[in-house]
Amino acid sequence: MPVADRVEELRVQIMELADSCNTADELMRKMVKLLHERMLKYNWVGFYLLEPGAQPPMLVLGAFEGAMTPHTRIPLDQGICGAAASSGQTVVVDDVRKDPRYLACSLETKSEIVVPIFVRGEVAGELDIDSHFPAAFTPEHQDLVKHCAVLVGKKLEVAGR
Ligand code: SME
Repeated sequence: MPVADRVEELRVQIMELADSCNTADELMRKMVKLLHERMLKYNWVGFYLLEPGAQPPMLVLGAFEGAMTPHTRIPLDQGICGAAASSGQTVVVDDVRKDPRYLACSLETKSEIVVPIFVRGEVAGELDIDSHFPAAFTPEHQDLVKHCAVLVGKKLEVAGR
């Protein structure tokens, strides 16, 4: 199946999943599993959420699929994760070796995408995906991952955690 069709099929499944989940926690758990299982190049898929009330702000690892990471808590001034959360912008890194911000999770990781999750206009967390393949996150993958982050943001808004 061409990549575009696979991405489209997965987008539909993710929307159905969002409809069927009652809480954001359930959606995040099932979403990381589905993305990790279905996409060959999504080798680590996980959520980081801002710790409520933490000063300085701190990203805390939530649901994830893939190898355990040493980075379970990330301050906003560190890593690609910190850059995405502090700027509110999606960060796509085609070659992590060339990005000095990169915090290594696995020696096999070649590229990464981090998409912020917004709740009522504020960054509440992010969806982070690592790939063993360079430049894995083409524009159609970026759209898919952003769509996932929007669905989780909506669920966090509506149902709480
Ligand atoms: N690479 C991330 C750290 C998290 S691990 O990829 C799971 C970063 O640079 O912020």
